[in-house]
Amino acid sequence: MKTRPRRALSLFLLCLGLAGLSLEALGEDAREPYDDFYCTTCHGADGRGNVGVQAPRLAGMEPWYLRRQLEKFRDGRRGTHPQDVEGRAMRPMATPLSDDSIDALVNWVGSWPQAAVAKTVVGDVDAGRRWYAGCSACHGADASGNQALGAPALAGQNDWYLLTQLRNFRLGYRGRHRADSEGATMAAAAQTLPDEQALVDVIAYLNTLAPPDTVAAGAANRHTQLQGN
Ligand code: HEC
Ligand code: HEC
Repeated sequence: MKTRPRRALSLFLLCLGLAGLSLEALGEDAREPYDDFYCTTCHGADGRGNVGVQAPRLAGMEPWYLRRQLEKFRDGRRGTHPQDVEGRAMRPMATPLSDDSIDALVNWVGSWPQAAVAKTVVGDVDAGRRWYAGCSACHGADASGNQALGAPALAGQNDWYLLTQLRNFRLGYRGRHRADSEGATMAAAAQTLPDEQALVDVIAYLNTLAPPDTVAAGAANRHTQLQGN
């Protein structure tokens, strides 16, 4: 990774984000270098997720879902509930983004090749498979997602992150904003899981599914982009 020489700049950008300042105010140069230091500071080397700061894998995420979540964080439809600790950590990263910056980020992050994640959640896979029957209509039998329904891929995502999201949807920490229709859909679906054990089991089942290879072709793009650094 090429993060090391840029650590000072990362921290600087991080502070900017926390202060809610516009990167645009600094001119095009400051906004330009969206390479592997800013998002990966939290989201981990190669965007594979970082349990230490609870930031999930971005590498392999569908570009349409990535865009929608960045817009939700920016506009306050996600990451504003007082109990949503992780969402509130992410939100200041999105508030300074212009539409153009979001386009640039989606092109860049969306081209990262799928990264394999470690599996940490252990549960009853058979019970989880039964629970997942209620999820597959939206997320797909193989959990590869369904853009038409707005449901992202779940296979291949960090299991600890999925667990937090299911808890947050059930408790109303995510998906309660009145302009978050997809979140409301999912918050209702989360109520079909009766208890913590069901959440753990459904995720244990998801851990058995292979991640969809959404952006295999993007690997080449990224390589080219990093040449210039
Ligand atoms: C200060 C640490 C931090 C930085 C820097 C950061 N993020 Fe995040 N991000 C998080 C955390 C923590 C979450 C988990 C939020 C939650 O649990 O709801 C997250 C969640 C996300 C999500 C939602 C993922 C999903 O599956 O719904 C996206 C998309 C995202 N970040 C994109 C980015 C991008 C792009 C950048 C760089 C511009 C970035 N993040 C920078 C901490 C960070
Ligand atoms: C009626 C359709 C529907 C059903 C059924 C459904 N979901 Fe979802 N799910 C969604 C949508 C739409 C989103 C995206 C929410 C957003 O945009 O914030 C989502 C998001 C999620 C997320 C967050 C992913 C991320 O990267 O942050 C998880 C985890 C999840 N669903 C798990 C499940 C599980 C487990 C079940 C079965 C108990 C299930 N879903 C059933 C529609 C559905």
